[in-house]
Amino acid sequence: MSDLLARRLADGFAQGFGGAPSGVVRAPGRVNLIGDHTDYNDGLVLPIAIARETRVAWRATGTRQLRVIALDAGREQDAFAIGPEPSRIGGWRDYVRGTVDAAYRRGLPLAGAELAIAGDIPQGSGLSSSASLEIALLHALAAAAGARNPASVELALAAQDAENAFVGTRCGIMDQLVIAAAQPDTALLIDCRSLDSVATRLPPDWAVLIVQSGVTRGLVEGAYNLRRAQCEEAAAALGIKALRDAREPDLDRLEPLLRKRAQHVVTENARVVEARDALLGGDLAALGSAMGRSHASLRDDFEVSHPQVDRLVALLQSVIGSEGGARMTGGGFGGAVVAVFARNRADAIRAQLTESWENEGMGALGSFLTDAMGGAGSL
Ligand code: GLA
Repeated sequence: MSDLLARRLADGFAQGFGGAPSGVVRAPGRVNLIGDHTDYNDGLVLPIAIARETRVAWRATGTRQLRVIALDAGREQDAFAIGPEPSRIGGWRDYVRGTVDAAYRRGLPLAGAELAIAGDIPQGSGLSSSASLEIALLHALAAAAGARNPASVELALAAQDAENAFVGTRCGIMDQLVIAAAQPDTALLIDCRSLDSVATRLPPDWAVLIVQSGVTRGLVEGAYNLRRAQCEEAAAALGIKALRDAREPDLDRLEPLLRKRAQHVVTENARVVEARDALLGGDLAALGSAMGRSHASLRDDFEVSHPQVDRLVALLQSVIGSEGGARMTGGGFGGAVVAVFARNRADAIRAQLTESWENEGMGALGSFLTDAMGGAGSL
């Protein structure tokens, strides 16, 4: 996969700008093992970086101009100057413009450059192709400006700022931070209040499977931002800074809808700790149990799942049995599902899953196994 990507990027750069780039950076996508809709409540998350990525080939030009070519968007181009607020024009360009704008406002190193972008993260699947693009761009711009080893947390905050201020999604920090800071073979336990993170080893005999539900996440910013607003309303009603600080007995003071939202956040934070302990203890049954309860909570209390996703998760869980688990992952409203089980069962589980899904008349199923990869950086 990555050889193909390297060739496509080199050819695309040569056709767009002539010659060869000075360097190439990469940023992975991510899948969250557990802890969804907790990050913007100052809570806990446990994602991994996946073996699909965005790459940016860069060459500094010694000017303040940026020229960008998106090889996966019909080789469309964009050109603008580094400076305050480049205008919004929609589509992929706003992710680039928003990232440059955030980096500019936050004083991160920036230099004029020619940039070619290509990647293999499925889009609209909830695997963070946009956060991956933002972090890859920030690495490319830092490299073009001659900055070495930019701090992961600074890059993640700038990328989140681009989403919040420019694109209009009020996302938390999970995606950008794990993409910037992940370490190979580990999941990253992130405390989204302090932004401290602890790399937690994934037992080497476990497999992580990503399955596409077939429901593409469309324009879901509105529903996502509404969930966030409800969480903020619940925290305000309880007189606390964020739902991270809520205790289950206090939730009875909330009106029913806000109570359900808060209930999810409080119990999900506890499940992240359970899952971390399961990783440390190599306990697949305990992880599976936490994943199952997480899915039910996202479906019933937070109401961000989708019937087709629920069906896929139920099917996966019945194929896996008690030694492992499956759940929706990320923002929800469709997209991919994540499953964890013993590596030596991967072929059998995938075959049985595909057969059952097709027997139910649900069409072809896309899935891939992934290792836990390292975070973004130069190649
Ligand atoms: C999206 C957001 C993240 C996080 C998840 C849900 O991926 O970008 O910040 O809120 O949804 O856990």
